[in-house]
Parts: sequence; structure tokens; C-alpha cells
Amino acid sequence: MKEIKIESTFTVFDNLNELPQEVSLLIERAMEAREKAYAPYSKFSVGAAILLDNDEIVTGSNQENASYPSGLCAERTAIYYAGAQYPKAKIIRIAITAGSQTRQTLTPVPPCGACRQAIAEYEVKQDMPIEIYFMGETGKVIRSNSLANLLPLGFDKSVL
Ligand code: THU
Repeated sequence: MKEIKIESTFTVFDNLNELPQEVSLLIERAMEAREKAYAPYSKFSVGAAILLDNDEIVTGSNQENASYPSGLCAERTAIYYAGAQYPKAKIIRIAITAGSQTRQTLTPVPPCGACRQAIAEYEVKQDMPIEIYFMGETGKVIRSNSLANLLPLGFDKSVL
């Protein structure tokens, strides 16, 4: 028997001004996308913006449904659109911003497990790390240099 230790490292930025302009502009696109969320049930709006290596930016927001499980998170709305529209493009980074419609969300909101799994699929497919930036509505931003860093011991095609 042995124990294995898996470490994850994240970078925390105090605000958007600490980020390179290219990244803060992507986060602004995610903020615009968040405004388009359809979240009448949770009243929690999420926006995602994805930069591709063909310089396209694809955005998405959460889309809810009266049949709750039929709704989809912002990250998956965006990444599946990117995969469908630009199947050969690689994903450089994803910016995510989230906030409640009823109170201010000042702490960074990390992507849910299902979205991590979806993003992991594309990271494996493109064999290149995807940078993830996530935040609340304002305030601190957290960067992960890869999705694998957010999902240790992930399930992928290598086990099939
Ligand atoms: N949501 C996202 O869009 N992304 C996540 O990573 C977590 C949760 C959405 C789903 C639902 O519409 C609302 O936030 C509350 O869970």
C-alpha cells in the first residue's frame, strides 16, 4: 500500500487590473455573456468566454429549464458550441464569471464537476492545457493553468 499526493496550484489575482489585457478582455466578454443567462429558477447567472487558437471567441451562459436537469451550465453551453462550430480549433483559455441575481457574489465561483469533466474532454482531445480563469461578479480572479489541475484522477478515454 502507498499513498499518493496530488498537488494543485492556483494563482489568485486581486482584481482585473492585475491581469494581462488579453485576459481581462476575455473576462469582460464572459461578463457580457452572463447578462444573457436564462436563470429564472436559481437566479444565479453564469457567463463563460472561450478563446480559440483561431482567434475566435465563443461565449455562453447558463440556460435553465422548468425540468431542472434539462438546463445547461454556461461553460458547457460555450464549449459544446465551440466544439460544434470550430471542431479543429484548440482552446487556449476559458473565462468564467458568476453571480446571484439577489445578492452580490464577491468570491470566485469555480466550475462545477460536470463542467470540469466536459472541459477535460477537450483538453485531452487537443493535447494542450486549457487555462481556466474564474471569478464572482467582481473582485478576486483565480487562474488554473490546466483543467487537469482542477480534476485530479479524472476519467478519460485512456481507461476505455
Ligand atoms: N452553473 C453554471 O452555469 N456553471 C457552473 O459551473 C455551476 C452552475 C449554473 C447552473 C444553474 O443554472 C445555476 O448555475 C445554479 O446552479
